[in-house]
Amino acid sequence: EVSARLKRDFSRGLGKHSHHKAPVKMLPTFVRATPDGTEKGDFLALDLGGTNFRVLHVRVVEEQQKVLKMDSQICAIPQDMMLGTGEQLFDHIAACLSDFLVSQDLKGQTLPLGFTFSFPCEQKEIDKSILIRWTKGFNCSGVEGKDVVKLLKEAIHRRGDYDIGSVAMVNDTVGTMMSCGYRDQSCEIGMIIGTGTNACYMEEMKNVKRVEGEDGRMCINTEWGGFGDDGSLKDIQTEFDRVVDKMSINTGVHTFEKMISGMYLGEIVRLVLVKLTEDKLLFKGQSSEALKTPGRFETKFISEIEEQDNGLENAQNILTKLGLKWELVDSRVVRLVCDTISSRSARLCAAALATIANRIRVNRGLDHLKTTVGVDGTVYRKHPNFSDELKATVRLLAPECDITFLVSEDGSGKGAAMVTAVAVWFIYCLL
Ligand code: GLC
Repeated sequence: EVSARLKRDFSRGLGKHSHHKAPVKMLPTFVRATPDGTEKGDFLALDLGGTNFRVLHVRVVEEQQKVLKMDSQICAIPQDMMLGTGEQLFDHIAACLSDFLVSQDLKGQTLPLGFTFSFPCEQKEIDKSILIRWTKGFNCSGVEGKDVVKLLKEAIHRRGDYDIGSVAMVNDTVGTMMSCGYRDQSCEIGMIIGTGTNACYMEEMKNVKRVEGEDGRMCINTEWGGFGDDGSLKDIQTEFDRVVDKMSINTGVHTFEKMISGMYLGEIVRLVLVKLTEDKLLFKGQSSEALKTPGRFETKFISEIEEQDNGLENAQNILTKLGLKWELVDSRVVRLVCDTISSRSARLCAAALATIANRIRVNRGLDHLKTTVGVDGTVYRKHPNFSDELKATVRLLAPECDITFLVSEDGSGKGAAMVTAVAVWFIYCLL
């Protein structure tokens, strides 16, 4: 049922006249091909989307068909900057890049740059990308509705101590698809289940009504996190989902994401535990300050509690740290709650992924589709059985699709470098 509803929303998002109001945005990315292994050169890559910001220098060498050299640096983005002004944010990014160029001895050079920017953007061209809205923990003023590439370039010019070459903007899903595509040519879906959740895939140009041209394919950033924003998931949202949404910095936005991704799973579990305690079904009805505090039950606790061998012991340690007096049965119930919430997340994600796989199969008129999905994100990587549950559910919902899951090698930063490589390579071909 969820998959059928999302299928309908995919069509609405792709439609020329229906996309304005569509909750699932289906954004054209202007990426028209996956890497073919012949890209080479020196690139810079930026990766912004979680709590950390990464800068990378990548050297791609054709002969070895692999990335030869990659250096990177992580800069923290403080919480107040995530909620401050856009100018502060971009000045910070430009400063981190400057430090990195100095440390790499690259300051005199003008290198092309791939920018993985993991938020919904209306892409006008590969180097022009308007932020539709912030999601996850970010809410910087003066950026929504603006061209992110321009804001970055302006911040660099304000400094005046270095310059960059052509810029290619990508979503993290696209970066992940590209970096996996480098290893596996049949990778044509990218999926993230981390702080947020989203996926992209290669769509037939003839179905991308908002971009001119009928031939070939283009990568579409679905922004499936927005599924349900028009109320279409109301019947499966629980009282806990509604509280999570109400307490978030973007109420009413990214409904599906709030039922699935790492930024919210811990909080959903906490709210369920609070309710069970109020109903005297846990801890003999005795709560604690920590349990009553939003954000104190971290998403990583879920993975720890669900660990096969040490899970129960981990649960007990966590409950003690949260100031709760537990008995064996309490720790078992807490584990069951974690399992319920993470399973729901995995299955919802599977329903969405099955929708994409089925769509690609039908697009190509195939009875059977063999394809690869590049995946990244802490929930997928770190949770002990999330990926198994997701895969099993996709098999049920898309039985005609044989999907290989490839975990992206080192996150989406390298993918961004690959996208720049492909973009620059295209420009060479046109000259
Ligand atoms: C959020 C963003 C989306 C991103 C996803 C995963 O859903 O809107 O652009 O891909 O998080 O990071």
